[in-house]
Amino acid sequence: MEILSYSDLTFKSLKSTIFSALQHHKTTPESPIGIFDSGVGGLTVVRAIQAEMPAERIIYFGDTARVPYGTKSPATIRKYAHEDTAILMSHLPKIIIVACNTVSALALDVVEKAAGSIPVIGVLRAGADLAVQVTRNKHVGVIGTQATVSSNAYADAITRLDANIEVVSKACPLFVPLAEEGFTEHAATRLIASDYLAAFDGHDIDTLVLGCTHYPILRKVITDTLHGDIRIIDSAEAVAGRTRELLADAGLLCTGKHAPPPHLLVSDLPQKFSMLYKLFMESDLPDVELVEV
Ligand code: DGL
Repeated sequence: MEILSYSDLTFKSLKSTIFSALQHHKTTPESPIGIFDSGVGGLTVVRAIQAEMPAERIIYFGDTARVPYGTKSPATIRKYAHEDTAILMSHLPKIIIVACNTVSALALDVVEKAAGSIPVIGVLRAGADLAVQVTRNKHVGVIGTQATVSSNAYADAITRLDANIEVVSKACPLFVPLAEEGFTEHAATRLIASDYLAAFDGHDIDTLVLGCTHYPILRKVITDTLHGDIRIIDSAEAVAGRTRELLADAGLLCTGKHAPPPHLLVSDLPQKFSMLYKLFMESDLPDVELVEV
């Protein structure tokens, strides 16, 4: 049980007053796009947003101190989601992208509530929509964290759009640490991938959703391991197109020139973060701000 002192209570209520004021801030096309994930995985979303909308300023929070989320309970994931949103809200974003399928599956409502009038878009819905558009034979595979797969959120989102689609899901928990470790083409990754992806043998899937934003980092191994002609859906790429549409509809697209490098916030700064940033963003790590969670 949490025991609060008087000063804690004062601080907490002050924080919640500031937070609710922030929920009603006015946004402009120049306001940043806020993006968060449990760690480096959301950088795949940053990259996709930069490719789609190079003029947009980005503020990214990676909860590197508490990654992985996908092995945690729904209650813990919801608590983290609230805190992550509060961190981004203090930077007055015009939209929040939940670059984490696990949070999109289990706590999108928490993020929406905490964001107030700021629109929120999750990778899961974008990935599900694209899978439905792409599949021809209506057999879709989904890989994700244990929490995402157990929630059944992808299968629900896909079959809500087309009840005739058969969804086969497989949790691939070891892919997250392998991606965080930078084991993009390591023999260990290949071995684990062949074990996990055997779950799709005999299901005749023509589409596979990478239902975790860390997985595009391992895309080459995943593609090499799959048998047959299977279209890969990257939930990170899928969300970029939707974000552009949403901003355009709201009159919030930035029309300026090239944006500065993303403003990075992390809750811990392991050496790996800088190494992986260079690897996946193909540029040097900009200044990083350490935030307390
Ligand atoms: N990258 C996140 C996702 O899309 C979370 C991975 C994790 O922290 O377990 O699910």
